[in-house]
Amino acid sequence: MKLRNSAERYGLVAIVLHWAIAVLAFGQIGLGLTMMRVESQRLAFDLIQWHKSTGFLIFGLFALRLAWRLANPLPRQPASLRPWERRLAAVVHRLLYALFLALPFSGWTLVSASVLGIPTLVFGLFLLPHLPVEISEPNENFWRFVHHLLAYAAIALIAGHALAALRHHFILRDETLKRMLHPVRRTKP
Ligand code: HEM
Repeated sequence: MKLRNSAERYGLVAIVLHWAIAVLAFGQIGLGLTMMRVESQRLAFDLIQWHKSTGFLIFGLFALRLAWRLANPLPRQPASLRPWERRLAAVVHRLLYALFLALPFSGWTLVSASVLGIPTLVFGLFLLPHLPVEISEPNENFWRFVHHLLAYAAIALIAGHALAALRHHFILRDETLKRMLHPVRRTKP
């Protein structure tokens, strides 16, 4: 089983990290949107605690992914891609990397600036310290605005990224999505 990336394909570690983060990010966005809209304050509180914990889990996995990405070659883009598609894909991937770092950080800053001072107990296991930021309503509101803005940017980019992958698979019928699914090229019998 190929664990590391090669010049042509992603290895198993990059594939597992990609899909684990994708599933968690999907759930995290759903959780974020739901917790803001439920009537019950008790339920909203519990969902926010889950949202904070999952956010840190995504952050941890993302840091691993980034380290793995730096320690491995990046597989070449399929030759069928036009120059503008290569450039657009590179820009979207970089923006996604930036967002996955900035989103947990802005959420952490938001709860650290909150005048409510609610502690963050990650999955009920350990207490995460708050960041040393000014605790005030204007600062909390500023970071709330930033976190919401980044969340909507992530929703738009993830949708674009997923649609592009589906276009490659079902319309262009190239290897783009397949190489993020299997570490080894499947040959037809
Ligand atoms: C990849 C990570 C994250 C994603 C994708 C994400 C996404 C979201 C989304 C979609 C919302 C709802 C926005 C709306 O309805 O307008 C939200 C709200 C919120 N998030 Fe996150 N989030 C992430 C990480 C975090 C982290 C690490 C924390 C805290 C430690 C956090 C704390 C919050 C809080 C407190 C709110 C509610 C804000 C309010 O009171 O208006 N988030 N997030």
